[in-house]
Amino acid sequence: MRKLSAVICAIFILTLIIFFTDSYNNQVIAGNESDEYEYEYYYNDSDDTEEDMYSISDSDESVTEESPKIDTDPESIMVFVNKEYSLPDDYVPSDLTRPDVRFYGSYSDDKRYLRAEASDALEDMFSAAEEDGIILYGVSGYRSYDRQKEIYNNNIVQRGSTATNKVSAAPGHSEHQTGLAIDISNASLGCTLSEEFGESDEGRWVAKNCARYGYIIRYPKNKQSITGYSYEPWHIRYVGKKLARYLSKNDITFEEYLGYEPLIPYESDIISDIKVNP
Ligand code: DAL
Ligand code: ZN
Repeated sequence: MRKLSAVICAIFILTLIIFFTDSYNNQVIAGNESDEYEYEYYYNDSDDTEEDMYSISDSDESVTEESPKIDTDPESIMVFVNKEYSLPDDYVPSDLTRPDVRFYGSYSDDKRYLRAEASDALEDMFSAAEEDGIILYGVSGYRSYDRQKEIYNNNIVQRGSTATNKVSAAPGHSEHQTGLAIDISNASLGCTLSEEFGESDEGRWVAKNCARYGYIIRYPKNKQSITGYSYEPWHIRYVGKKLARYLSKNDITFEEYLGYEPLIPYESDIISDIKVNP
């Protein structure tokens, strides 16, 4: 009887030992699993660094909205201005600043100004170009409503409305009034604004690289029926790096991105060598 009690007691103790050992092991495994998940979580999370989010060399095409709305806020970097969408007559950007870049023309001229963000981006772009042996010149940046009116009316008088409307925006309808657009050129063209700029080393460099700095060629070749304007390889518009990169990669205009179509279709014929001040 004593022997039987001893055996039962031993079995009981053994059972207890097995139970607690198993329970302890389970806790350790659970702890390891939780550490693993935590590690994996942090690992995945740390993949998405701030630097990547703002990188201009990434392959992210999901940076834009699926159904983007036309932005009419004059202060917005994305403001859409064309033959239909205009700016208030009295709109003057609040943060105009003079980019520290080579410029053609008078030092005190308004046209040397751009909005601060566009100005910084232009400085970065011109510096990068220079590092590649490409020397760019600013020709015409910000223009007031009144200045655009002067240019446009003069073009109408000199060349007539058909030629004018293919290269020159009516007052209130020019991107130059936003302070986000600038015409640029090179020394070999004497800083004139000509289609030849697109074929020059400088023009090619700009077409290839401007999106990296948030700029787009706003009026590309063969897109007159979409933009309403002839090819202007010299007119670049700041829209921010993400959108610029998206438009460039997908080879689409601002209009195409926004799903904009003119109320009355634009003429698509291309006239070159228009002697109109753009
Ligand atoms: N040349 C462009 C269209 C402007 O006048 O704003
Ligand atoms: Zn322009």
